[in-house]
Amino acid sequence: MSELVTKQILIIGLGLIGGSIARGLKKASSEIVISACDTNEIALKNALQEGVIDHAGSLQELCPKADVLVIALPTLTTVELIPEIAALSNANCIVTDVASVKSAVVAAARKQFDSFQQRFVPGHPIAGSEQSGYQASSAELFKDRNVILTPHEHCSCAAVAQINELWRLLHANVLGMELSKHDEILAATSHLPHLLAYAIVDALADQQQSENIFRYAAGGFADFSRLASSNAKMWSDIFIANADATVAVLDKYIDRLQVFRERITNAEHDTLVENFSNAKIVRDEFIGKYFGGKVSHNDSKSIINYLVEPGSKISGSIRVPGDKSISHRAIILGSIAEGTTKVSGFLEGEDALNTLKAFQEMGVTIIGPDNGELTIYGVGIDGLKAPRVPLNMGNSGTAMRLMAGLLAAQQFDSELLGDESLNQRPMARVIDPLTEMGAEIASVDNGKPPLKISGRTLKGIEYSMKIASAQVKSCLLLAGLYAEGDTSVSEPASCRDHTERMLKGFGYSLAQDESTRTTKISGGGTLQGTSIDVPADISSAAFFLVAATITPGATLCLEHVGINPTRNGIINLLRAMGAEIELSNKRKIGGEPVADLLVSYSQLKGITVPENQIPLAIDEFPVFFVAAACAEGVTELRGAEELRVKESDRIEAMAIGLRTLGVEVETFVDGIRIQGGPIGGGRVESFGDHRIAMAFVIAGLRASAPIEINDCANVATSFPGFISTAQQAGIKVSERECGADE
Ligand code: S3P
Repeated sequence: MSELVTKQILIIGLGLIGGSIARGLKKASSEIVISACDTNEIALKNALQEGVIDHAGSLQELCPKADVLVIALPTLTTVELIPEIAALSNANCIVTDVASVKSAVVAAARKQFDSFQQRFVPGHPIAGSEQSGYQASSAELFKDRNVILTPHEHCSCAAVAQINELWRLLHANVLGMELSKHDEILAATSHLPHLLAYAIVDALADQQQSENIFRYAAGGFADFSRLASSNAKMWSDIFIANADATVAVLDKYIDRLQVFRERITNAEHDTLVENFSNAKIVRDEFIGKYFGGKVSHNDSKSIINYLVEPGSKISGSIRVPGDKSISHRAIILGSIAEGTTKVSGFLEGEDALNTLKAFQEMGVTIIGPDNGELTIYGVGIDGLKAPRVPLNMGNSGTAMRLMAGLLAAQQFDSELLGDESLNQRPMARVIDPLTEMGAEIASVDNGKPPLKISGRTLKGIEYSMKIASAQVKSCLLLAGLYAEGDTSVSEPASCRDHTERMLKGFGYSLAQDESTRTTKISGGGTLQGTSIDVPADISSAAFFLVAATITPGATLCLEHVGINPTRNGIINLLRAMGAEIELSNKRKIGGEPVADLLVSYSQLKGITVPENQIPLAIDEFPVFFVAAACAEGVTELRGAEELRVKESDRIEAMAIGLRTLGVEVETFVDGIRIQGGPIGGGRVESFGDHRIAMAFVIAGLRASAPIEINDCANVATSFPGFISTAQQAGIKVSERECGADE
């Protein structure tokens, strides 16, 4: 049970929000001791009688005794009270608030001593209703609702974790947000609608016919004006405290009203229909997506096809999104570190975002991502909380395998789910060694997801991997962080070492023996929060390396690409085929080597892929096969059976597509032989695999006719904005949404 059970909780203001917090906490555990102060004696009396609070009293009396204090008052009253609370509360008391405008509250907190700032965690539950007062409060008010925390640079991570836990007990979803962003967003989504509701009722009430207007008003008026029944003091506080952001969005709204006014006056019927239709689509979509309504164009992933036309010219300079492997690891290690971790260049693709959501679900407060920037308030090595729901890893084998190692070693149970593709992928490779460490993991059909993990204390083992898998290695190193004794993992061939580099960046020492390719970790240490600059993903850059290499006349610069030697197989292989790739501006960023890559067209020659390059280019083979199809002669790959258990069977998926385009291909259990030659057009399948979809876009650069690629929505798992980046590089590609039956 939560640590909060043993704390003295004080709620200042027992209205709708304060009363609901008290009720919800008591429902979560009747042992929780709650005190409250309020000027409303009746509310206090009722709450005492109902057992919702245990004590009532004055601020002077109760504040010094509180371990956790919630200010549940209107914004300006909160601002006024902060100096008194800072003075009265004890030095260990963690303070939070629920005010709707955060900058005004944080400005007041910033005027207090540092020690108060560290223990003050600004919060805002996006719950509530037009009703107010204790009598309207409910234990369920925050269930499945978002609560935004806007911690500032002085907040202690322990205080943030404690307030996160408080909201988790109330079944809320806790999100982090930059405070200026919070106030801007709330001005548009909450403050403006309230103002409009007050304005319409106020304007109509002034009219002589108001009685008739209200008498004959239909449901539309009731819907629109509902918010005008909200607490007047609370809302005037909000508008004044958030005046700048509210006025800015109000001005935009007034401009739009003027436009509509003119269109109505000029009877611009068609334009109005278009405006309103667009608004309807947008609203239906967000209601469907965020409020679980029935009307949605986006209930499941829509089917997206790509069309690439011949005749592209490749040039310019592009930066592809952040590295997926490093982004996953930044979230994982940042979450279990002490202190904050700042991440820039984070990949905002579905896979890494699923990992981020999983840690939010386990009680980690994360601000962002905002343009690739994140701040993670680490909960410490033992600070994760039991997830309340199964954790959905979507399409990502990396996330599932790494998380399996971490979760197997926790003192709570958990479940990992995946999508259709992930549910077919082998997990025995992590389940077996983890079981040897003492883990208990149930799977489907001897090793397929979902994985049901019972948290256990693990013991270190020495493990020799049968396959060169960075996912397995990383899984065991993460489990090894928690295991009793040492865990050592040896790999049959070098594979990506981001986990090792990043662990060192977090101050965790490892013993690495290059000659035996063994990494040893001792359990029981701690990680220190750090800064991570995620380089651009070489696996995403690879599509453009091949694009420029195979397109006559092309020259392209790829900026800030990670060139870790355990990842640069694609550069080695393309160079071996005769590609011209220059590395400039080489530098090291956060322990990872980075460079700008300048690549231009060259006529490639077929090669036999050296086996030691396979793990170094493991994700790049789909697009490498396209390069092979454009090369003179034969390219052969053997020893790569791993490709059959990626997001799709990549040997088969590429062979089928290449044959459709007229390329001569032979497959083997462990590889492929490709005869270079002309490429035709046609319709190919991506098999739901992001890298197959993108590889065929690149094939389109040398095709004699258009190529249509089916089912490309999963490109968003690793490369959000792929189409616009490809267009920026000069590729004639477009996407279209298709009906489910296409
Ligand atoms: C990854 C490792 C590789 C790679 C995957 C990402 C990682 O898998 O294919 O896309 O981040 O550790 P294996 O290690 O299983 O080959």
